[in-house]
Amino acid sequence: MLGRYLDAIAIRTHAHAEVETFAAVAGVPVVNALTDEAHPLQALADLQTIRERFGTLEGVRVAWIGDGTNVCVSLAEACALLGLDFVCAAPVGYQPVDPSIRVVTDPREAAAGAHVLVTDVWVSMGQEAEREARLAAFAGYSLDAHLLAVADPDAIVLHCLPAHPGEEIAGDVLYGPRSGVWDEAENRLHTAKAVLALTIG
Ligand code: NVA
Repeated sequence: MLGRYLDAIAIRTHAHAEVETFAAVAGVPVVNALTDEAHPLQALADLQTIRERFGTLEGVRVAWIGDGTNVCVSLAEACALLGLDFVCAAPVGYQPVDPSIRVVTDPREAAAGAHVLVTDVWVSMGQEAEREARLAAFAGYSLDAHLLAVADPDAIVLHCLPAHPGEEIAGDVLYGPRSGVWDEAENRLHTAKAVLALTIG
């Protein structure tokens, strides 16, 4: 029914299969606006922000710090497609399952010399009951000034928002001079419009 009413459908949900099922039958473009497994629109905004800041995507080194979330997986895929180097630092039990993604456990190892440091919340939507266990598991994975200090001197920091300052990212980093978070947030608008322009055509 929605396929007959609408030119395109953007779906934000938990189960990835719901989006695939919708796409199979809707008859109009279906956009993944976030599932538990993937967040491709966020990856587009992140890449736009990286290209704006560095003038290129080729050879840029991206270090993910923290939970291997939907956002992490989509950014890793986008980096692989476009020639960026990607490494994820996450504790055992919270790492992306895709074996093609390079994973380490030491955040400093991932951050060393990186051009882009990225993180996401430690408790994603739907995981609220796991909050205490997750905060314990991610101790030491905060994207803070100490971590930023080992990155490239021109490094930028990204976060899909909403952020929890003092948890996955330090407030002085989120609001500091190396933060690209506000450009990144703005670019969610431009890249989503581009996806609709290309798909609705
Ligand atoms: N990993 C987060 C991203 C929020 C934009 C979540 O799924 O809640």
